[in-house]
Amino acid sequence: MIHRHAVALTLCSALCLAAFAACGGDSSDGAAPPAAQAGAAGASAGGAGGASGAAGDAGEGGGPTCTPGVLKGPWSLRAGSTEATVRWQTCVPGATAVAFSVEGGADAKTVDATSTMYTTKYRYPSVLTDAPADEPGDYHLYEATLSGLAPSTCYTYSVAGEAGRKGRFCTARKAGEKLTFLAIGDTNPALGTTDATLSFTLPKRPDFTLHGGDIQYYSGLETWAYWFPKMQPLLAAGAFFPAVGNHESEKPDEYEQYFWRYFGDAGFDGKSGYFTFENAGLHFFSVNTQEPFGAAGEQGKWLIEKLEAASKAPGFRGSIVLQHRPFFTCGDSDHHPDEQAELEPSFKAFGVRVVLQAHMHGYERFEKEGILYITTGGGGGAIGTIDDDLARPECALRKASGAFPHSILLDADGATLTGTVIDNKGATRDTFTTTLK
Ligand SMILES: [Fe+2]
Repeated sequence: MIHRHAVALTLCSALCLAAFAACGGDSSDGAAPPAAQAGAAGASAGGAGGASGAAGDAGEGGGPTCTPGVLKGPWSLRAGSTEATVRWQTCVPGATAVAFSVEGGADAKTVDATSTMYTTKYRYPSVLTDAPADEPGDYHLYEATLSGLAPSTCYTYSVAGEAGRKGRFCTARKAGEKLTFLAIGDTNPALGTTDATLSFTLPKRPDFTLHGGDIQYYSGLETWAYWFPKMQPLLAAGAFFPAVGNHESEKPDEYEQYFWRYFGDAGFDGKSGYFTFENAGLHFFSVNTQEPFGAAGEQGKWLIEKLEAASKAPGFRGSIVLQHRPFFTCGDSDHHPDEQAELEPSFKAFGVRVVLQAHMHGYERFEKEGILYITTGGGGGAIGTIDDDLARPECALRKASGAFPHSILLDADGATLTGTVIDNKGATRDTFTTTLK
């Protein structure tokens, strides 16, 4: 579906780019912008971290010189009951191990990492800010698998030899235990609200983050080199479980060379950007709405099969679906009521309690057949027009909405799951509850 703003964007001057680019519009047209193509033509393909020589590009991700040490991260993924994965990136070979210990403990262990060297071809600068460009060149992605961990335990870790490059993750809680986690979507820190939004929810120490997709916006004034240091507080707070958004493919190779290397294989038992994981008896399903996701397709069949299996698992309390494009929205974004109708019988039969969706830059809460459909697209992208399509049938089901930046703390406690929607001023804008088993 072509978003109406994608058309408008072609007519838009550079100065209004941010407002449109962040509105959740489709930008995955696969075409490299002229600046990127020109940069690629003139760039050194073999230099470590690239060597564009452009003034003002020094910094993480490359620039005139590639400096030793960690450029991006570390961050954690794939946190299960007894394991987790830690990744980071350099542009010259660097530290090859992670030191970790139980949070608050003193006895650190060390685990070796594997490294993958890869080469990016294109230069992707930011449009309007002095954000460092994503430079062409050789990079090294490190990955360490921490195993044999204790369940229901939080750990701190750091890249060996770089104590300041550190983070935290928690292993999955045992079924029935209390659990706090964070939901956010459409993070665009260059536009200025993301930091404030997170400043009110990260101190609550969520175990992990569900990201609804549209993680970084080239079209919203930033680059991955800019995004990582700005988002390190979130990445360091807990494991990162993203859904795939349309802005993960703004550039021809962005999905493969950036998104997938950083955040691919974030969970378990899936493929091609969709996965599942379990924590505290809650089962989470990240659905890739850049691929068909109706009930009859490969992904839909996978989802239904996994939902049924989860509903029969010991200690099952409920399931939560995470996806970028919304089933329901009354805002300036596409919606997918047909896929919702196809999947609803399985959602009802197999204990789905909440669907977290993004893409529309605002907040919405719908309820249908006892299932909550929450739009959490307030992570920093320019807020959209949330009432643009009030004639859609699902809008009769909308219980709350608002045009504000936000993230959501979710607390599972006993038989209740509570969501608290907190904006970038610290105000609670909505709360919702649903029952768990
Ligand atoms: Fe989007």
